[in-house]
Amino acid sequence: MRKSMLFFGFLLVFLGLALPGTQGKRIPRCDLVKILRRHGFEGFVGKTVADWVCLVKHESNYNTAAFNNNGPSRDYGIFQINSKYWCNDGKTRESKNVCRINCSKFRDDNIEDDIRCAKQIATRARGLTPWVAWRKYCNGKPLSSYVNGC
Ligand SMILES: *[C@@H]1O[C@H](CO)[C@@H](O)[C@H](O)[C@H]1NC(C)=O
Repeated sequence: MRKSMLFFGFLLVFLGLALPGTQGKRIPRCDLVKILRRHGFEGFVGKTVADWVCLVKHESNYNTAAFNNNGPSRDYGIFQINSKYWCNDGKTRESKNVCRINCSKFRDDNIEDDIRCAKQIATRARGLTPWVAWRKYCNGKPLSSYVNGC
């Protein structure tokens, strides 16, 4: 009885890890390049699609369901959009919710709303400086590898 229940438990865990959709999805690099080109990211706020792919790589590793708790606020989705200024997660004090959206929307497979908000963030900042990972890993670095072959 015990043993079979244990086995069943492992089976459930395994299925949970293997099931797509529940954990969001990882967008292949070249698919992301195409999506970003289609949405006019090349030259937007003076940056390149390569800058954005580098940003996404180091913020979320292309995972649409990425989530990080930073204590007072949280980061959501492929662009790791923060609940302090940009979206409402119902548990961040004095959230500005500039993008007028529920943060959990940034963790689903549809990245249209993520893109809209990311553009708003970049427009206000006149660049990509709000993203720590971009400043650290992408700014002024060689970036062609992020778009090569796409
Ligand atoms: C955001 O959406 C989730 C999932 O639908 C819901 O559980 C949550 O209450 C919503 N949060 C806010 C702040 O509206």
